[in-house]
Amino acid sequence: MIILGIETSCDETSIAIVDGRKVLANVIASQTLHQEYGGVVPEYASREHMRMIEPISRRVIDSTIKDLSKIDGIAVTYGPGLMGALLVGLSFGKGLAVALGKPFLAVNHVEAHIMANFIVHSDLDYPFLCLLVSGGHTMLVYVKSFGRYKILGTSVDDAAGEAFDKAARILGLGYPGGPIVDRLAKSGRKDFHVFPRARVKGNELNFSFSGLKTSLLYLVKRKGESWVQENLADLCASYQEAVVDMLLRNTFRAVEMVECDKLVLAGGVAANSRLREVFRRNAEDIGVKLYFPVLEYCTDNAAMVAFTGYEMLRKGITSPLDIPAVPALKFDSTE
Ligand code: KG4
Ligand code: ZN
Repeated sequence: MIILGIETSCDETSIAIVDGRKVLANVIASQTLHQEYGGVVPEYASREHMRMIEPISRRVIDSTIKDLSKIDGIAVTYGPGLMGALLVGLSFGKGLAVALGKPFLAVNHVEAHIMANFIVHSDLDYPFLCLLVSGGHTMLVYVKSFGRYKILGTSVDDAAGEAFDKAARILGLGYPGGPIVDRLAKSGRKDFHVFPRARVKGNELNFSFSGLKTSLLYLVKRKGESWVQENLADLCASYQEAVVDMLLRNTFRAVEMVECDKLVLAGGVAANSRLREVFRRNAEDIGVKLYFPVLEYCTDNAAMVAFTGYEMLRKGITSPLDIPAVPALKFDSTE
């Protein structure tokens, strides 16, 4: 089954073609123009998607199936994300579905991040526990099967990726912050400064990252610019350690609680090298099998959208053409 995937929820224009689990093409154009603004400018993002979506689609089709009639379904992210950005991909996808007379598949971006793991791990099977960590979400999800989810914990304030991005902004490092902090932290001392590790009252599996960010902000204000510059790598390493520690603590508590022997990482922050390292070690210690996607499928990409569309179509789920873009689309427990 050949599915065309379209992802334009934020600042990546991505088009993919999958044949079941097999990715025939996955082109990702990352919009670099936002860097000078220190964050994504929604209007510019939409315009870039408009400029890129047609030529990228053409390139993907020409380098794979060549003939549009071979497509069995069109899968598009319809939320969560930026309204204008989502609308570009959604309208383009709907147009194609109508023109080709093929099923239209509206995909939840968060679900697609989790599904990305199936593209690279042929041995992965349900049920599993997933830590989903992206720029907008931090969630522990028990995945029973496709479409059957139980949210065990979630962030009560900032997402983990946001914690990285805000730290990078405070330290004057540019956007997106995660990869920059990750790189600088490699040569820094993790025990240079002990940042707070918040615990959330009520549900012990919930996360909170806003106090951590505030603590960095106060430290930077107190110590001054030149001190920050001298200790940049150490600050990144210590801050990253606090984020990873909190993710680790809750995730392995959840592993115990659900007694699951498969743990899956998903989302942009799953690209973090320190996170991968400590999760790998901890999983090994207790005999849990750890899965995470290769970098290309961690951050935003259309292959994960196409694969999710494939799973929908296999189950006979299709979407009406009047489905709107939903910027604040939820990803909730299904039972
Ligand atoms: O999944 P994603 O590409 O987009 C969303 O759906 O949000 O995640 C983007 C987030 C950004 O906050 C970015 O800083 C973070 O993932 N990120 C990282 C790394 N690479 C990307 N965070 C920490 N370490 C990384 N290596
Ligand atoms: Zn994403």
